[in-house]
Amino acid sequence: MHEEIDHPCVQHKLAIIRDVETGHKKFRELATEITKFVCYEALKHIRTKEVDVQTPLAIAKCRKIDTDLVVVPILRAGVGMLEGILELVPTARVGFVGLYRDEDTKQPVTYYERFPAQTKGGTCIVIDPMLATGGSTIATIDLLKKAGAGKIVVVCIVTCREGLQLVEEAHPDVPIYTASIDDRLDENKYIVPGLGDAGDRLFGTKH
Ligand code: PRP
Ligand code: URA
Repeated sequence: MHEEIDHPCVQHKLAIIRDVETGHKKFRELATEITKFVCYEALKHIRTKEVDVQTPLAIAKCRKIDTDLVVVPILRAGVGMLEGILELVPTARVGFVGLYRDEDTKQPVTYYERFPAQTKGGTCIVIDPMLATGGSTIATIDLLKKAGAGKIVVVCIVTCREGLQLVEEAHPDVPIYTASIDDRLDENKYIVPGLGDAGDRLFGTKH
């Protein structure tokens, strides 16, 4: 299952973050803002429980989140989405997966992995702005399943059909939420039109 968040507020911000003239400060701010909107949708099915709350007038039947939440940014670019999701769910725990795409093979190489104990049985939200070939996302889901994650949700900013298909074939139980499903991958496995190298644009490592 995947869902593209086709809301004008998201699409407006996406138009600005894609722009080659957008510098790293603005890029980071937009990544945070877009993440908040997309995660808001992505979290709509998480488990809740009914609670009674005493208002000044009476008992109100309310709902509270009833699962451990673990946000998992894929290093490095996933860190650019962390602030946005933590504004929504400030008590979530954070696990990290360090992955980079080998420039020649385009395959993900894992260099770091650290998950909180609540990963086991918890709801894990994988964040990475770019789901391109899908290799990095699949590798992260594999690690989380090995760690006993109860439920996994993927949130990205831009993806493409090819990457979605690969992740959905490998992990049909994992829903993916994105601000955009772009046309294709180029010969370097970059998303086109995409927004370029998300890590470099977030952290100002090029230019
Ligand atoms: C980018 C991006 C994803 C991955 C997507 O990271 O942030 O993690 O590539 O590609 P895939 O879907 O084909 O696996 P990159 O390897 O550039 O590392 P970085 O975050 O350290 O810049
Ligand atoms: N990584 C990026 O940062 N951008 C892409 O388009 C593909 C992988």
